[in-house]
Amino acid sequence: MYIEAIKERHSVRTYKEQKIEDETRVLLEKKIQELNEKGNLHLQFMEDADNVYNKLLNKAVGLGSCPSYIACIGKEADDLDERIGYYGQILVLYAQSLGLNTCWVGTFNRKKVKASIADHEKLVITIAIGYGKNQGRVRKSKTFDDVAEVAEVTEAAKSELAGKDQIPAWFRNGVECALLAPTAINQQKFKIRLNSDGKYEIIDKGGIYSKVDLGIVRCNFEIGAGLLNADQL
Ligand SMILES: Cc1cc2nc3c(=O)[nH]c(=O)nc-3n(C[C@H](O)[C@H](O)[C@H](O)COP(=O)(O)O)c2cc1C
Repeated sequence: MYIEAIKERHSVRTYKEQKIEDETRVLLEKKIQELNEKGNLHLQFMEDADNVYNKLLNKAVGLGSCPSYIACIGKEADDLDERIGYYGQILVLYAQSLGLNTCWVGTFNRKKVKASIADHEKLVITIAIGYGKNQGRVRKSKTFDDVAEVAEVTEAAKSELAGKDQIPAWFRNGVECALLAPTAINQQKFKIRLNSDGKYEIIDKGGIYSKVDLGIVRCNFEIGAGLLNADQL
């Protein structure tokens, strides 16, 4: 279900005015609660977006308005942005599987956010959520070779693998899903390295909201690579 959601998801920037139906909203709220516990976060579903998004602010990228949004909030910590990206992306994919559409939105009107933000908490970003007027569209993407770095395999391993793909399928699948992950201004400024000990690393190459991007990309990678079990999603 999550793999399909990764493949089907695109940022959607025009929404119907219709609010999310009760049944769906209950499921969404339940998932938010679970993810808040797992990630030690304070994500909040805000049914009424008021003027959190407006055309003027988003003129350059085109997000019109959206009836509802998720306020992505958590206690200040060095890894807060990355955790928001990671757990927020699980939520985005879950929402997609419920027939909703989303767009991560860093350009929004902070003053209009009515979510509760406790002392030492920070509002990092928002996710627009609702029923899209369309499903978004396929965009340009970097390729496997642009982002993947695979350590040299030893001579012994090479002869064992002779004739076979020397890159394991789980790593290829992980990178393919990472390439479908949303990143701010579609920057895709990351590298994914497979070390000679078989472990992988995702490296952030900087840029706006790059730590949020890193968490989002890690989420997609781990799902694609089959590294997460149902309890973790
Ligand atoms: C951290 C982050 C911030 C974003 N901020 C905005 C934004 O302010 N306005 C907007 O329209 N899209 C925003 N986006 C959506 C990206 O532009 C979009 O994910 C990217 O172009 C890739 O397209 P896709 O999501 O359809 O794969 C943001 C995405 C991320 C991950």
